Amino acid sequence: MGHIRILCIGDVVGVTGRTMFQKHIDQIRERYAIDGIIVNGENSAHGRGISSRIVRFFKHNGVNVITSGNHIWYNKEIYSYLSSATDLLRPANYPRSSPGIGVTTFECAGHIVGVINLQGRVFMRDHIDCPFRTAESALSFLQNKTNTIIIDFHAEATSEKMALAYFLDGKISALFGTHTHVQTADERILPQGTAYITDVGMVGSLNSMLGMKKEPIIEHFITQLPVKFVVDSSAPVLLNGVVIEIDTQTGKATRIERLSLLDTDIHITEDGD
Ligand SMILES: [Fe+2]
Ligand SMILES: [Fe+2]
Repeated sequence: MGHIRILCIGDVVGVTGRTMFQKHIDQIRERYAIDGIIVNGENSAHGRGISSRIVRFFKHNGVNVITSGNHIWYNKEIYSYLSSATDLLRPANYPRSSPGIGVTTFECAGHIVGVINLQGRVFMRDHIDCPFRTAESALSFLQNKTNTIIIDFHAEATSEKMALAYFLDGKISALFGTHTHVQTADERILPQGTAYITDVGMVGSLNSMLGMKKEPIIEHFITQLPVKFVVDSSAPVLLNGVVIEIDTQTGKATRIERLSLLDTDIHITEDGD
């Protein structure tokens, strides 16, 4: 009995995000005495999607579960891996027939941790199932397996993220938001013991648009014409996440701490992914 500490990292964007992640992960793990790592990898290949090679990269660097979101479908190479994987999630509220699963468990310091990936519907393009009802059925699936459950809620609207967190307060250990790539400063423990942050942020270039080069995006806003989005590889690079401490006896969060690391001395070399 005791506490476990889980590190949750926001959307890792392309080679820039991966290089930054690899450079700092060992130090973070040691400094915060991390027992388990959850990373959102939906943008880890070229800023959109993920490849099986990148899944191996994350696993090699100690990641237990990779979560995702709307961009998971971009790289079709991953579909076959998704279909059999228990360490790479797609949002649970996509149609049942879509590849992959949205709920999993992993072992962490002798304790089972449940992870649920969900996606919002407010200001999001995909017409998926209700995240609230999907969360309820995922919880009933996990409840006889563990009292320690963490949700990555991949959503745009603060209201939807906060509403789901309050709806599940006391039933889960933590809910962290992803998708906006901008870290919010509202991390706290809700009244019934669920740790919460509206968005953990990203791992990517600071002077970018959500990790992508800003110029084409500005051009798109001005001209309304389609443009090609390119991963920004310029320094400084940002690494955002939260450390959540959970009492394994109760499954409740005892602490949530926001991480925001800036590396000005990092050189990104292009690669195949
Ligand atoms: Fe993202
Ligand atoms: Fe997203």
